[in-house]
Amino acid sequence: MPNTHAGQTDRVGHTPFVDLTPPGDPVAHRYGEPGGTGGTILPPTIELQLNHRSVRKFLTEPVSDAQIDLVITAAQSASQSSNLQVWSVVAVRDDDRKRRISAAIGRQSYVEDSSVFLVWVADFRRAANVAEAQGASAETLGYIENTLVTAVDSGIAAQNALLAAESLGLGGVFVGALRSNPAAIIQELGLPDYTFPLFGVALGYPDPSERAGIKPRLPRTAVLHQERYDPTAWLAAAEVYEDRLQEYFAEHGRDNYSWADTLTKRISTVDGLHGRDSIRGALEAQGFASE
Ligand SMILES: Cc1cc2nc3c(=O)[nH]c(=O)nc-3n(C[C@H](O)[C@H](O)[C@H](O)COP(=O)(O)O)c2cc1C
Repeated sequence: MPNTHAGQTDRVGHTPFVDLTPPGDPVAHRYGEPGGTGGTILPPTIELQLNHRSVRKFLTEPVSDAQIDLVITAAQSASQSSNLQVWSVVAVRDDDRKRRISAAIGRQSYVEDSSVFLVWVADFRRAANVAEAQGASAETLGYIENTLVTAVDSGIAAQNALLAAESLGLGGVFVGALRSNPAAIIQELGLPDYTFPLFGVALGYPDPSERAGIKPRLPRTAVLHQERYDPTAWLAAAEVYEDRLQEYFAEHGRDNYSWADTLTKRISTVDGLHGRDSIRGALEAQGFASE
């Protein structure tokens, strides 16, 4: 259970400040290892990164415009492919608009309850405007390389944003469910051609009553390969992980959770894509063909 520090304020002067940091060793916590009891002194940035958890339940305390500005400046500080800066954010605060977005993607309470819902937009429209103002066309916008560039850069920037928000005592969750109904989002936000809604970030002050904690990750040996890819590395790691994640979910009120089953449901049939199997058409309609 996180601590609420009565009277403590975040850096932009807001209260309450809910500290989501669990006691103990942040590295052990990240992997759900038993018996981690401190000892690792980490730089504050890494500690913040290791203590990340998605927040889906929010207090009503609003996120200020100054906080949003700082979060977006942190996002813009991320590296950017060729410094193209091909993403934009639409900040949605209006309750009716949040409700309509939530309804369009299957009612996600965290969208409606967030103080601000940031919609991350792949944006080659601005680049096309600049090129067109130079008298040039924007021939390459339909190439999948450029679709990857805006998606990769958006993800990198948005993670900077979420981490910045967490450093301010806020919490949030990425919302890929936005891609279940891109047409509705495009219409709601008035997105022009060469733009596409990639995901949202719901932000607000964490409600300490939410039953969630630091969700363990795969053992590092599953993802870190030395010199060459080891195709056998997954097996032992997946076995250990299954137990640790099951324990995590049981602790947070969900019995019989299986990572392998969940992952298999997600990738084994088209149903697992939750309607996102038609995303190619939606991208093409916005000018992102797949050459
Ligand atoms: C691009 C992206 C999209 C996501 N979309 C959703 C979503 O639509 N709904 C949701 O509840 N969580 C979503 N998540 C959050 C993940 O479920 C979460 O990060 C993951 O389960 C790990 O949990 P943690 O963030 O608490 O460590 C998304 C995460 C990412 C990176």
